[in-house]
Amino acid sequence: MRAFAPILAGFFVQQVWATKPAVVVSGATGRTGSLVYKDLKATGQYEVRAFVRNATKAKAVLGCTSCNETEGIFVGDVSEPETLKAVMAGADTLVITTSSVPVCTGSLPFPMKKCHYPKGGEPKEVDWLGTKAQIDAFGFSGGSMATKQLLYVSTMGTTTPDNFLDKLDKGWTSFYHLQAEADVMSSGIPFTIAA
Ligand SMILES: *[C@@H]1O[C@H](CO)[C@@H](O)[C@H](O)[C@H]1NC(C)=O
Ligand SMILES: *[C@@H]1O[C@H](CO)[C@@H](O)[C@H](O)[C@H]1NC(C)=O
Repeated sequence: MRAFAPILAGFFVQQVWATKPAVVVSGATGRTGSLVYKDLKATGQYEVRAFVRNATKAKAVLGCTSCNETEGIFVGDVSEPETLKAVMAGADTLVITTSSVPVCTGSLPFPMKKCHYPKGGEPKEVDWLGTKAQIDAFGFSGGSMATKQLLYVSTMGTTTPDNFLDKLDKGWTSFYHLQAEADVMSSGIPFTIAA
């Protein structure tokens, strides 16, 4: 995930910015999202905004103080599109790191564990529809789509149907990430997809 800052730097070097470019990191308290958020903050070159569901978790993971919009922490949920408006307003770049997270129990090795997705947190809702909602909100957030940049962090196994990730709680997470990749590619916004 160390690669994100250089990718963004390469993109922005071609632009002349009156203010720091605004970069939104969704899923910012997650494993990937928190690394991306901290890396970008550390460069000092961006107005970094975090989109999170839980401000308490943001305080613990991201080290914010008030953890509100003044500090660049926006609380919302990708399943409620209206909560995406404020964080996307005038944004130059969106880094999507949201992903469904299965809750697994038992001592068996990973593919054999008993897993379930929380209600509303299923792969279809989060990985596909949640990504679509973010692309829509970002695309309509003002400014030209041609100068925006979309980075989508997908998942592994998207070319192998019914792989072990798809089988978890029959949630088809790789399949729904692939649907999201198709939405990213057809969005009309310059994009990068990482897995
Ligand atoms: C928010 O995060 C805190 C700290 O991780 C946790 O204790 C709490 O249960 C979370 N709240 C919700 C609604 O998930
Ligand atoms: C965020 O918190 C700080 C400190 O508590 C406060 O001064 C500021 O007005 C808050 N911003 C918003 C948007 O609520």
